[in-house]
Amino acid sequence: MKQWFILSLALSGCLASVAQNEIIVQTDSAKTLISKQIYGHFAEHLGRCVYGGFYVGENSKIPNTAGVRNDVVAALKKLKIANLRWPGGCFADTYHWKDGVGPKDKRPTIVNTWWGGVTENNSFGTHDFLNMCELIGTDPYLAGNIGSGTVQELIDWVQYVNFEGESPMSKWRRENGRDKPWNVKFWGVGNEAWGCGGNMRPEYYSDLYRKYATFMSGWSEGNIFRIASGANSADYNWTEVLMKQIPRNMVQGVALHHYSVIDWNKKGPATGFTEEQYFTTMQRALFMDSLVIKHSAIMDKYDPNKRIALVVDEWGGWYDVEPGTNPGFLYQQNTMRDAMIAGVTLNIFHNHADRVRMANLAQTINVLQAVLLTNEEKMILTPTYHVMEMYNVHQDAKLMPLKLKSNAYKVGNRSLPAVSASASRDSLGNTHISLVNIDAGKEQTITVNLKGGKYKTVTGRVLTSGKVQDFNTFEAPEKIKPATFNGAILKGEALTVKLPACSVVVLELK
Ligand code: AHR
Repeated sequence: MKQWFILSLALSGCLASVAQNEIIVQTDSAKTLISKQIYGHFAEHLGRCVYGGFYVGENSKIPNTAGVRNDVVAALKKLKIANLRWPGGCFADTYHWKDGVGPKDKRPTIVNTWWGGVTENNSFGTHDFLNMCELIGTDPYLAGNIGSGTVQELIDWVQYVNFEGESPMSKWRRENGRDKPWNVKFWGVGNEAWGCGGNMRPEYYSDLYRKYATFMSGWSEGNIFRIASGANSADYNWTEVLMKQIPRNMVQGVALHHYSVIDWNKKGPATGFTEEQYFTTMQRALFMDSLVIKHSAIMDKYDPNKRIALVVDEWGGWYDVEPGTNPGFLYQQNTMRDAMIAGVTLNIFHNHADRVRMANLAQTINVLQAVLLTNEEKMILTPTYHVMEMYNVHQDAKLMPLKLKSNAYKVGNRSLPAVSASASRDSLGNTHISLVNIDAGKEQTITVNLKGGKYKTVTGRVLTSGKVQDFNTFEAPEKIKPATFNGAILKGEALTVKLPACSVVVLELK
């Protein structure tokens, strides 16, 4: 995908209001599918994500189905989350799945050593998770334990959830109340093997991966999609070694983790941040483009036909926890800054849809860049939720390549492209264009050239708020929500759009 940014130089002051932004959309070249799996989420046993977020238990006064909150299920259905990754994260490499099946009062406890040192009672286990995925209508993505588990343990898990015939594991599953297998397709082979997953070197992990992947096959009617634990952000050597050492037929996805964090030692607050801090966060978020390009180029060397997917299975903003909350629970508020991260990141994934075919925002509820926050019986939708909901029109649509020329968003002597965009055509023939203006203070006028497009109408939705620091609260849950957008004018093949400062817009052209 050719995308070029020409930052307008020295155009502040008198020329600031002149439209410099220009997008050319190749409406007749929609070929590559934007996999809906890019719209995946992540549910780790961490803080109040699983316990208190998804799961409150059958006896809770909060309305639930088999212990899972009904309000959460409804919200995630509407969001059309494509897949849900569980049980970690770092937790995955400490998790022993057999402790989480069978009668709940007989399950042993587990101490969550990575996240707050809390003792969990294992009441949310494999059946609970997979049945919940069915309720939400999402594909489960199980992260296997290769850090502290065994090969036998992982292949037993595959057999337990996926094997239809007679076997010790399928028998046990039936005894535990589930006849038919769930046919889980997505399997992670460890998590962050370079860090919390075992502090391995890529050479060692590649061998370990080969061993685990060998024994994971053969227990499922469908194809198992095995995902290798991927690089930490710009660790290109990790991808290089994995691609070189793991045979093509043994791996379907290679992961990548990248968080938009200002500084791991000084993350800054989730709300009340300065414009400098906002700018740095956006710099980190936009760095995803370069990461995807460079990791993909390495993958291209070994897999020119792009058979193996780049799976960005952890991404999002990471800030200091909310004052007074457990530092190990990673609970943070979610502002318009997070909406900007979501908008630009999804545009990047769309524009690289040939290689990025799966991704997971970290995390779904009450942890990091959450789409939902809960407080006892209350639940709110965050600005990130709204962006992902507005954008879901792109799921399984065909990417329309575009060229983008953007004004600069400047803070001090630093500058970033103000505008980000992506476009696609859905199965009904409708075109959607997603636009983000990250400039915290300036509106952007964009000229969109719809090359070869024959459209009669344009409609749209916008997410914006007075300040980039704005957020929804349990007291004011709808301060930020999508509204009808009237800032686009269509004349033949030309579209003029006025994007408010700090906004996300999704247009529909028919
Ligand atoms: O998402 C929180 C943590 O971040 C995950 O457990 C880990 O994989 C990553 O370092």
